[in-house]
Amino acid sequence: MINQGPVIAIDGPSGAGKGTVSQLVAEKLGWHILDSGALYRLLALAVSHHGMSTDDVETLKVLAEHLDIQFKQSVDGHVEIILEGEVVTQAIRTEEIGNNASKLAAIPEVRDGLLSRQRAFSQAPGLVADGRDMGTVVFPSAPIKVFLTASAEERAQRRLMQLQEKGETVNLDELVETIKERDERDANREIAPLVPAAGALVIDSTDLTIEQVVEMIFAETVKAGLV
Ligand code: DC
Repeated sequence: MINQGPVIAIDGPSGAGKGTVSQLVAEKLGWHILDSGALYRLLALAVSHHGMSTDDVETLKVLAEHLDIQFKQSVDGHVEIILEGEVVTQAIRTEEIGNNASKLAAIPEVRDGLLSRQRAFSQAPGLVADGRDMGTVVFPSAPIKVFLTASAEERAQRRLMQLQEKGETVNLDELVETIKERDERDANREIAPLVPAAGALVIDSTDLTIEQVVEMIFAETVKAGLV
């Protein structure tokens, strides 16, 4: 692997705040960002657009390797996600796509197909990589590894607020159940299960603010001499 800059690997279950934290850490450092979950979501959306079967794993792998994806930084600092020429920034954030992505993510050929694409994001001056296996599989030599977690109830509560802001009606208990189910699948799959990497700094964000988490990671980066 050609490592073109240091990597901060931030792994953890969905809803722990990884996305926001990763974005803020990347902004603070002026580094690149990889939202690896978006790649699995994009694949799930492409599979549904093309009406593909998920049984044909070799075709899924080819699709993962060649999927036409762009992450475009817009003027207001947001990232626009484009799949096969279509803006899908919002479309990949539904619960349905999240669940389908989680199912695809358990297929070894899919993970393999996305591996080199993820590694290509590692560019100078550095990369903040957000996912489930950033520190264990994709960037095992990352100098900083963080495992960010929070209780399932807290994560469901945060997700509920996000969905309500988008005008979606959801039930909190159902959300807690879906989150636990997804955790279970992500943590117990045979390939690249969601576990803290060796030496990872484990941060439980249940009672922390986003800013406190960002500061903790920034402090690690300074301690490691990366800034
Ligand atoms: O972080 P997210 O919710 O957008 O990710 C969607 C799904 O993709 C998640 O259920 C697990 C999977 N995923 C993964 O297996 N490995 C990653 N590095 C990122 C996401």
